[in-house]
Amino acid sequence: MPTLAIYPGSFDPLTNGHVDIITRGARLFDRIAVAVAMNSEKAPLFSVAERVEIAREVFKATSNVEVDTFDGLLVDYVHRRHAQVIVRGLRAISDFEYEFQMALMNRRLNGRIETVFMMPAEQYSYISSRLIKEVFSLGGGVHGLVPDMVEERLRQKVK
Ligand code: PNS
Repeated sequence: MPTLAIYPGSFDPLTNGHVDIITRGARLFDRIAVAVAMNSEKAPLFSVAERVEIAREVFKATSNVEVDTFDGLLVDYVHRRHAQVIVRGLRAISDFEYEFQMALMNRRLNGRIETVFMMPAEQYSYISSRLIKEVFSLGGGVHGLVPDMVEERLRQKVK
């Protein structure tokens, strides 16, 4: 059976760290679905529709990457999609505790779903959506850390 992996997250906005993980996942699994969480951010900069549009545009030429949204428990969505794997990126030790808790909670909720951690290329190991938004809003450059389309959208939003 072909393996479908789900890569869930807020993606507010998509960074090149995310792009790196999705690209690696697309090589490892038959299909990978980027799943934008609908209620993960209290005050998001980008709407869910915008985040989906950006990810779809960035991966439009990669046939085994799709972009979707989900609400409620991640494991329920993964089950509904008949997927076998949750992919998460691990940048540094500081990510580990939160990711460890989530992976084990998700395993308790559904023991058939496996979480697979992937490391991004080292040049992206320190970036996060939160830092990108903070640096950009204070006038710092984020070129090379996010897709060009995201940089452009940030310019339109943060004026
Ligand atoms: O990019 P993020 O914000 O680190 O992604 C976190 C996300 C959306 C994957 C996580 O909060 C999640 O899975 N939310 C859905 C609700 C859920 O299943 N919560 C229990 C997780 S153990």
